[in-house]
Amino acid sequence: MTIVANRAVTFVNNKSLPVISSQEIDLDTCYGDNEIVVKVHAAALNPIDWLMYQLAFSWFAGSEKKTFSRDYSGEIVKVGSSVENFEIGDKVVGLFEHILGPQGSLSDYLVFNPTKQCALTKMPACNDPKYSDYVLNAAWPLVFGTAYKILFGYGQKLGPGSKILVIGASTSVSNALVQIAKNYLNVETVVGICSKKSFEYNKALGYDHLVAYDEDNTVEKVVGLVKDKFENGKFDLVFDSVGNSDFFPRIHDVLKSRNEGSYYLTIAGDHKIKYANLSLWSILQPSWEMLKRYGPFRKYNYAYVLLNKNPKAMALGAQLIAEKKYKPAIDSVYEFGDYADAFKTLCSYQVKGKVVVKID
Ligand SMILES: NC(=O)c1ccc[n+]([C@@H]2O[C@H](COP(=O)([O-])OP(=O)(O)OC[C@H]3O[C@@H](n4cnc5c(N)ncnc54)[C@H](OP(=O)(O)O)[C@@H]3O)[C@@H](O)[C@H]2O)c1
Repeated sequence: MTIVANRAVTFVNNKSLPVISSQEIDLDTCYGDNEIVVKVHAAALNPIDWLMYQLAFSWFAGSEKKTFSRDYSGEIVKVGSSVENFEIGDKVVGLFEHILGPQGSLSDYLVFNPTKQCALTKMPACNDPKYSDYVLNAAWPLVFGTAYKILFGYGQKLGPGSKILVIGASTSVSNALVQIAKNYLNVETVVGICSKKSFEYNKALGYDHLVAYDEDNTVEKVVGLVKDKFENGKFDLVFDSVGNSDFFPRIHDVLKSRNEGSYYLTIAGDHKIKYANLSLWSILQPSWEMLKRYGPFRKYNYAYVLLNKNPKAMALGAQLIAEKKYKPAIDSVYEFGDYADAFKTLCSYQVKGKVVVKID
């Protein structure tokens, strides 16, 4: 028997404060033939983690303990007899998908079937002077996977002749997206909308033009770029990562027509969600704009994108990190015991990169 403590940050419903709880597991018997056991070294927080917690209303959440987080990096410590391609000692990075599940990456161990939780790969070396490979690797699976789906998931052929508008240039998903677009797809023009103070940060990532949302006439400035600078060359993709509706009245001035394969893709809906103080209404709020997106009324190609686990995205992320074409962004790193401060930082919605929690 190899009994170890498996600590995890858990909660029961949105009225119970998250706490560290511990459960003993026997590392020799806790896994099946087709499962592996990963000793987690670092986990990253994402807005979805706090969102799920806030949505765990007592009338449906039940009384079981639920866990946080999806992104992890760690080392395989046990491998079932039927598992192929992974060995004890492999360092891995992945996205552990669950909704209010009993296992989440903010814990010491994850036990799972790698063909079902298939968004994992061997950890690429980052060779960063500031952060360990575990910390940097925990910081990318979810945001890179989301950016991957935006760029490749809708049949678009984005490349050297393309133009992309990113609403929310500073978000972690956009951070991954601009690096893939510029360093891998060689997209000609990526325009970003961010706060004035984030211009320098975002310029260094590869954005060709930046427009401030905290100054006047943001939409007009983008329309002006299209007309004058790009000589009426409209965008192939408008990507919204914050929940914005400002561009809908001028959509045909910025986005190419829908039969040219253009898309308006959002991962945050039409309204910015307040994570610190969430209501169901703030998520489900309908709008007139919806009528222009579906059925015979459809005026432009639109999708509300939801991430799904994708081994291809993981493989590309690891490849680009190894080739130094993609660097995950870190906002801050916390010790496991300081998880509450880590969530506070996440909910500020002013982070630049991922909030990572070290587990060891
Ligand atoms: N649908 C999905 O599958 C999926 C997947 C991943 C994430 N998401 C959602 O996508 C959103 C972004 O997630 P994330 O983790 O990438 O975000 P994040 O890293 O937490 O974004 C923080 C950044 O947002 C920027 N920002 C804040 N308010 C803004 C505004 N009004 N306009 C433009 N930028 C603003 C800030 O930079 P400035 O200095 O520029 O203000 C800040 O640095 C969240 O709502 C998240 O829940 C959805």
